Amino acid sequence: MSDDTSTTGSAAEAAEPADSAAASSAASASVSGGPSRRSVLGWGGAGLALGAAAAGGTVAALSGDGDPVPAALSGSSVPFHGEHQAGIASAVQDRLHFAAFDVKTKDRAELVQLLKDWTRAAERMTAGLPVGEGAVGGLPEAPPDDTGEALGLKPSRLTLTVGFGASLFAKDRFGLEGRRPEALVDLEQFPGDNLDPAKSGGDLCVQACADDPQVAVHAIRQLARIGFGKVAVRWSQLGFGKTSSTTPDEQTPRNMMGFKDGTRNIAGTDRAALDKFVWVGDEAKDGSAWMAGGSYLVARRIRMHIETWDRTPLQEQEDIFGRDKGEGAPVGKSKERDEPFLKAMKPQAHVRLAHPDTNSGATILRRGYSFTDGSDGLGRLDAGLFFLAYQRDVRKGFVPIQRNLSKNDGLNEYIQHVSSALFAIPPGVRDKDDWWGRALFA
Ligand code: HEM
Repeated sequence: MSDDTSTTGSAAEAAEPADSAAASSAASASVSGGPSRRSVLGWGGAGLALGAAAAGGTVAALSGDGDPVPAALSGSSVPFHGEHQAGIASAVQDRLHFAAFDVKTKDRAELVQLLKDWTRAAERMTAGLPVGEGAVGGLPEAPPDDTGEALGLKPSRLTLTVGFGASLFAKDRFGLEGRRPEALVDLEQFPGDNLDPAKSGGDLCVQACADDPQVAVHAIRQLARIGFGKVAVRWSQLGFGKTSSTTPDEQTPRNMMGFKDGTRNIAGTDRAALDKFVWVGDEAKDGSAWMAGGSYLVARRIRMHIETWDRTPLQEQEDIFGRDKGEGAPVGKSKERDEPFLKAMKPQAHVRLAHPDTNSGATILRRGYSFTDGSDGLGRLDAGLFFLAYQRDVRKGFVPIQRNLSKNDGLNEYIQHVSSALFAIPPGVRDKDDWWGRALFA
């Protein structure tokens, strides 16, 4: 099933991962054995399904193949398995928790095992199930496998999307130096960038999106916990309020500047555009066999000078974007979806400069979120846009657009890019035997 077939939630659609029944019986067998299952099997072993029972204990329905489906699955879920990872073209959820990790282990086999363990845990969490033996009902002598704050919550369309940073491919680390795709470039310093290295880059990333913030936060927390001693969170970002959608039929969301954001974006159902601009092609087309079906993610924390913006006259605000604030219509047009006439806009208008016609056709799928991380100690909101953009090749997507914007955009007076990262997003996990990054480590 492909990424663009997200569901709205029948029990059948949200069926428990097929491997869980087997895992359940293995787990039961292990419990009777005496010593802690965790100490014997470690993560990703047999212990992944008892949590289904612990998820609230209630069995609400039978799945298609007769296995019990916990009540938590009656909410909506997005299929985890597919040709592409979910969380890219699938409908954008309301909340985000994004984390970049440094890999601490030097052992390739340990890293591979972690990716397998993460995959199995992600399968469960995206289906609304707790990880491992769950949060309750396990051995009283050991900390529970799941921290518990998502117990009783619905799957909330949770998607977990994993990525690999350039540093993972460095020489003398995991033997991956020959496998770094050419498109996984070191992003240049753009004019105006004020990047914090501690909040940039990362060996791995996980993007957790959900309609319930607690579900997204829970998911990242479990993955960090599973990775304890092998990976450490380098930086993370919470996001609320999507600023772009992949569902053009829905009302376009607004960003922290009060403008509709995401009007002209790639729709999650537009297969032709996704194939052309978002999904990496096969080795013959795009040069890297293991990345076929994947994508590249640019993440930029863009701080907004909110207080300055709030003192800017409405006309000037509208000139800066090239669209009006109420309807979101391009200059000289009356409806949001009217085709922009770029020459009618000011030369520094954001939309004019970001439009594909100004950038030799460069087109990206935007999937960003607003953030507000308190204030900065000087009475100013630490708020802005956590920009996330997916593309087939950054050299033909984000880079040319940002070169143009960073030099000329009227918006630059009101924003500053303060963190940056680029990740290779591998293709989707096909089935219960597959795992995140299998083709890379093959
Ligand atoms: C805080 C920073 C930013 C804000 C507030 C912002 C806001 C907006 C708004 C309001 C629109 C018009 C509505 C729409 O079509 O979505 C827009 C369009 C767009 N923006 Fe941004 N944007 C920001 C940064 C960026 C960056 C860094 C890039 C890429 C390098 C970018 C690329 C685009 C593109 C490609 C469009 C659509 C242009 C078109 O085809 O008409 N934006 N943005």
